[in-house]
Amino acid sequence: MQTIAQSSAQSSFYPISLDEIKAKVAKKNGRRNGLTNGKIQQTTLFSNQPLDNVKEIINEFGEKIIRVDGEIPINLRVKDRDRFLFISYNQSILSHGLHKYPAKFFPELPCWLIKRYSKEGDTILDPFSGSGTTNVEALLTRRHSIGIDVDPFSRYLSKVKTTPLNEKELQSAQKYLLRLILNYKPSRVSEKDIPVFPYRDNWFNKEIILELAYLKKNIEALDTTEDIKDFYRICFSSIIRGISNADDNCTRTVIRKKLNKKVFPADALKKFAEVILLNVPKMIEFSQNCPMDTRVSFPDEMDARNINYNDYFDLAVTSPPYANAVDYPRTHQLESYWLGLTRGSLTPLKKKHVGTESVSSSEYKKLHKIGVKEADMTLLKIFKKDPRRSYIAFKYLDDMRLNLLEIHKALKKEGRYVVVVGNNKIRGELFENWKYIMELAKNIGFNVENYFASEIIKHFIKVPREERINTDWVIVLQK
Ligand SMILES: C[S@@+](CC[C@H](N)C(=O)[O-])C[C@H]1O[C@@H](n2cnc3c(N)ncnc32)[C@H](O)[C@@H]1O
Repeated sequence: MQTIAQSSAQSSFYPISLDEIKAKVAKKNGRRNGLTNGKIQQTTLFSNQPLDNVKEIINEFGEKIIRVDGEIPINLRVKDRDRFLFISYNQSILSHGLHKYPAKFFPELPCWLIKRYSKEGDTILDPFSGSGTTNVEALLTRRHSIGIDVDPFSRYLSKVKTTPLNEKELQSAQKYLLRLILNYKPSRVSEKDIPVFPYRDNWFNKEIILELAYLKKNIEALDTTEDIKDFYRICFSSIIRGISNADDNCTRTVIRKKLNKKVFPADALKKFAEVILLNVPKMIEFSQNCPMDTRVSFPDEMDARNINYNDYFDLAVTSPPYANAVDYPRTHQLESYWLGLTRGSLTPLKKKHVGTESVSSSEYKKLHKIGVKEADMTLLKIFKKDPRRSYIAFKYLDDMRLNLLEIHKALKKEGRYVVVVGNNKIRGELFENWKYIMELAKNIGFNVENYFASEIIKHFIKVPREERINTDWVIVLQK
């Protein structure tokens, strides 16, 4: 039987035009983020300071929403239950846009919270740090920070997004890789360059496997620092979903036949060239803006439920997972295989996740209660329809309770914990996460300083229509 390398050595490939790719990148760079519609009422929300990026609007249901365009003013007036529509312009500036990540913060939100509730030199924690948005913003505003995440892919990405790089070395590696792309021939890849992982040949077309293996092999062989290689490995990772046969827009990695997704030979090479042309200048800009005296770390083997710090952090900002919504290990399954971060089963990692669906039947035979009246009523309603889902939801709240306890210990006196969390529906029942978390926080000893809604207009998240999340709640807790 022929190996992939042998069979594709004979097949043709498509020539690549760097000029075409450069034109595409220039077009992307010129595009601004889209704006949403809304009738502007011209109401200034500040008593003494008119700011024209803050307006009251009425949405299509006749509801009053406060729209903030771009940077959120530090002294924005916030009342309990206010509803905000934050329009973000910074989602892909500097290192923020290096990689997709489900339920990622838009940078203006942590930036605002950090500036509002801390000062330069303070230390910030994000206990569910995901792609490290809080840490990038902490760094850029000169606050030390730690990001905790059980997912090795998240920690790797966050490390890259917060590591400044040498401009000359970045550019010379970019030049070298672009040249290699133009000189690509399938015969330059041998079987030993291709990683082995479950269902590889279903996830990817054979030409794409060879191109990815070629890119990976040449990144590994770069004569440069590990930090620079890590940056190119993340660029490499960022193209994987798009040129796989899996649905681009689903948080789970799945092939949907009805999408009839088309991936062509040379797509991986072209996409990688595009991504590095787009991101190298952004990474240079990030590096130029990055203070050298500010620490940031993403320790291994830490868990948001077991932090073990006392009176240490000035502020914690986070968006925990949603109950029952995103299966993070499956989101980055293909990327983790190619990067060598995962080999076999995803189950051990899944079990570590708050919101995990990996539970055993002995655990959900009886109804579990969390001790918050409204939450327990919802858990009972879910239990009647689906005991397993009810237990998953209970476990989620119990894990969040452990997290709140740990953060309460880890914060300095009067330090704040800002939690951004969405509601969702579980078996048709509205699961009001934010309310339950707020009650759990009060039971632990936090004061609720205020809470308000942030309407979500753009999300890399696709769950069934019924269970779609469209509002985040921002809860400001104080120790
Ligand atoms: C909503 S995401 C955070 C996104 C982040 N705010 C950003 O901007 O990218 C939630 C994160 O919680 C992480 N997580 C789940 N269980 C965890 C646990 N027990 N300890 C730490 N992190 C966990 C997931 O891996 C995921 O990255």
